[in-house]
Amino acid sequence: MRGFKGNCFVFLVEMLVLLRVLQFPCPCLAELRVGFYNRTCPLAESVVRAKVKEAVGSDRQNAAILLRIHFHDCFVEGCDGSILVDNGEDSERNAFGHLGVGGFEIIEEVKAKLERVCPGVVSCADIVALAARDAVSLSRGPFYEVLTGRRDGLVSNKSLAANMPDVDDSARVLRSKFRQKGLSDKDLVLLSSAHSIGTTACFFMGTRLYRFDHKNRSDPSINPHFLPTLKTKCPLDGDVNVRLPLDPVTESVLDDQILRNIRKGFAVLSSDARLYDHRSTRHIVETYAGGGSFRGDFAKAMVKMGRIGAKTGRYGEIRRVCSSFNQRPV
Ligand code: HEM
Repeated sequence: MRGFKGNCFVFLVEMLVLLRVLQFPCPCLAELRVGFYNRTCPLAESVVRAKVKEAVGSDRQNAAILLRIHFHDCFVEGCDGSILVDNGEDSERNAFGHLGVGGFEIIEEVKAKLERVCPGVVSCADIVALAARDAVSLSRGPFYEVLTGRRDGLVSNKSLAANMPDVDDSARVLRSKFRQKGLSDKDLVLLSSAHSIGTTACFFMGTRLYRFDHKNRSDPSINPHFLPTLKTKCPLDGDVNVRLPLDPVTESVLDDQILRNIRKGFAVLSSDARLYDHRSTRHIVETYAGGGSFRGDFAKAMVKMGRIGAKTGRYGEIRRVCSSFNQRPV
């Protein structure tokens, strides 16, 4: 009887400990949340917004640049600012898969300002995510709340970016690369709609216009009324640095027009056109091109992308300068 009572007591104590642990998870399991800096750096989001507004005001292209860098950051090692590190030739940012990605100086300027306002508090990874949100809303896209509390990663190596989605990937490969990041076909279509702003260099058009399917031909999905325009802008053996809008209809507005372009064969990038090749992604393109709830769903997909591999709690660090890891005491 005594033994039974003793066992019950031990069991009760164990249950109480377990309940306490569940109630207060260890800091390594901390969650991203809206308003993470409300108490520690109340000006954080407004400082980011002001700087992004200034950058986009001086050049609209900066909105597209800031949106793109968030995607590239999240797809390698999670949204942890690893793309920002510049520690030599092998840095992640020098990977082929990140070719053309920019905006580093804008993020660094925001960081410098925030270090003056609240040193050591706001992560570079969060600055990237907030800047992308502001870039979207300044392009007349939806405004959404950004989950914050990401910490900055401790690794940067270009080999880690070897599996970035490529402009000449098939629908099958694009779907698989997104699935590996926990993103669905719907997310793939919605996030690709970010190509409703910004431009591409002719460099990324060569295969689609002149070497499609390893043959000397153009992608047959290009509308015949559009093909001459593309070829005139990007002639064979022309300047690969010439840039053309990704959405020729509403170039600087983040909206669902790009999906109607894809449906009519007016996609510019091959990866956008490929979304019409597969039954599943085609159906999603059709749904939104026909007037689905694009704005809200695009925002949800951005929030979802922003959660990929986020480091919180005790993981990572808060870099003082976004392009360098903090110095560790020896
Ligand atoms: C589906 C896989 C994707 C592929 C293969 C892809 C590929 C590309 C390529 C080749 C460019 C042109 C880059 C240049 O010339 O500098 C580009 C531009 C861009 N991408 Fe993507 N992208 C993808 C997904 C995304 C996602 C998910 C986002 C954001 C949510 C995004 C945002 C952008 C933006 C805004 C631009 C314009 C950049 C500028 O004007 O400088 N892309 N993308």
